[in-house]
Amino acid sequence: LGLEGLNFNLSEEHRAVQEAARDFAHNELLPGIIERDNEARFPAEQVKRMGELGFLGMMVSPDYGGGGMDTVSYVLAMEEISKVDASASVIMSVNNSLVCFGLEAYGTEEQKQTYLTPLAAGEIIGAFCLSEPEAGSDATSQTTTAEDKGDYYLVNGTKNWITNGNSSSVCLVIAQTDREKKHRGINCLIAEKGTPGFVVGKKEDKMGIRASDTHSLLFTDVKIPKKNRIGEDGFGFKFAMSTLNGGRIGIAAQALGIAAGAYELSLKYAQERKSFGKQLFDHQAIQFKLAEMATRIEAARLLVYKAARIKDEHGDYVQAAAMAKLFASDVAMWATTEAVQIHGGYGYVKEYHVERLMRDAKITQIYEGTSEIQKLVIARELIR
Ligand code: CAA
Ligand code: FAD
Repeated sequence: LGLEGLNFNLSEEHRAVQEAARDFAHNELLPGIIERDNEARFPAEQVKRMGELGFLGMMVSPDYGGGGMDTVSYVLAMEEISKVDASASVIMSVNNSLVCFGLEAYGTEEQKQTYLTPLAAGEIIGAFCLSEPEAGSDATSQTTTAEDKGDYYLVNGTKNWITNGNSSSVCLVIAQTDREKKHRGINCLIAEKGTPGFVVGKKEDKMGIRASDTHSLLFTDVKIPKKNRIGEDGFGFKFAMSTLNGGRIGIAAQALGIAAGAYELSLKYAQERKSFGKQLFDHQAIQFKLAEMATRIEAARLLVYKAARIKDEHGDYVQAAAMAKLFASDVAMWATTEAVQIHGGYGYVKEYHVERLMRDAKITQIYEGTSEIQKLVIARELIR
């Protein structure tokens, strides 16, 4: 454990990104958000705008059409967008920190030219396909196969819970080539939608982040050319784990944003609503809730920024990312529950937004590695 990464001074550029994301969230994500949540409607127009504004390939090099920004900029934008719309921010997170990052860090020049450039510009969006119906946390037990057929792989199996499952054009699919080699026999392949045998399965009807499209993806004798493999033969599991380390910083920032969004709404409400002849804020019980929310959110923010800084300084951020996600997701669940309480009955209805934030918060303790898996990652790092 160390204090590396503890320089949290934000540059002018950081502040500009933060402000741009805040404006976008308020002007373009907030309108219609309750309807999109009710109808579980994918925010197609808003995602297009995110692409135009550069939020879908923030950290990608300008050589491939990205914003060339650092991870701190990315978490600042994730936080602001998540304060309002966690469905939009998970779409953004998967595209930036799983798909674009994975391709830029490990893809060939041809793969980058073909896929990364349109993904970074938001002309198309991507999906990251690791989980299966019978293998989530235990990701090495997956059963999707990628049989080596010489110049192509023959892919068979089912991926589950895939964010951007329907809306994506390009999917990074992690599949087993040589079962005997266990995790070292796994490959990551770039699969294009429209390839024969590759079908989008059922859409999940979810508790939260309802406007994001979570689907199963079905593969039946899908031929994927060998040039679409990322890295050496057998690199797929390492690829998934390394990519998820950065992804977890994105989800930690999402959790932080959800918590901060609920806190900001609660602080405002407590200064508007009256009970027993005074403002809610003037009841010490409510002040204490807000004081504790502010403190825990600040602690989560420090962990998230720290992990981002370590990544930007090319340090080892495995543990910092897991700690940030573990802590920030618990803060999100707790703070949003408190936010509903501060709002009373109004907190329980959709108009006041905090019930949605509470439903959205829950997923941050589950995806990109559950809280239990983050503890496992942290514990392993303690004795490494
Ligand atoms: N970073 C880099 N490498 C890692 C790693 C990490 N965080 N964790 C494991 N590895 C490497 C290990 O070093 C090992 O490599 P070597 O054999 O070369 O040394 C290899 O991966 C296998 O590791 P383990 O022996 O530790 O494997 P395991 O089966 O015991 O457990 C696990 C690994 C940490 C539990 C892993 O399976 C895991 O992270 N599970 C959670 C899966 C997950 O996060 N899924 C998210 C899906 S994407 C998503 O959810 C997106 C979204 O919602 C928006
Ligand atoms: P399980 O692994 O079955 O876990 C069940 C419970 O047991 C959990 O509480 C877990 O923490 C606990 N548990 C399991 N193993 C251990 C252990 N060793 N020690 C202690 N506790 C343990 N996946 C993708 O690949 N791509 C995506 O884009 C994606 N998006 C998602 C979007 C949504 C909305 C959802 C719900 C999921 C998404 N996922 C995605 C899948 C997600 O990553 C998995 O759901 C998650 O990793 C947990 O796996 P599981 O659901 O199979 O739960």
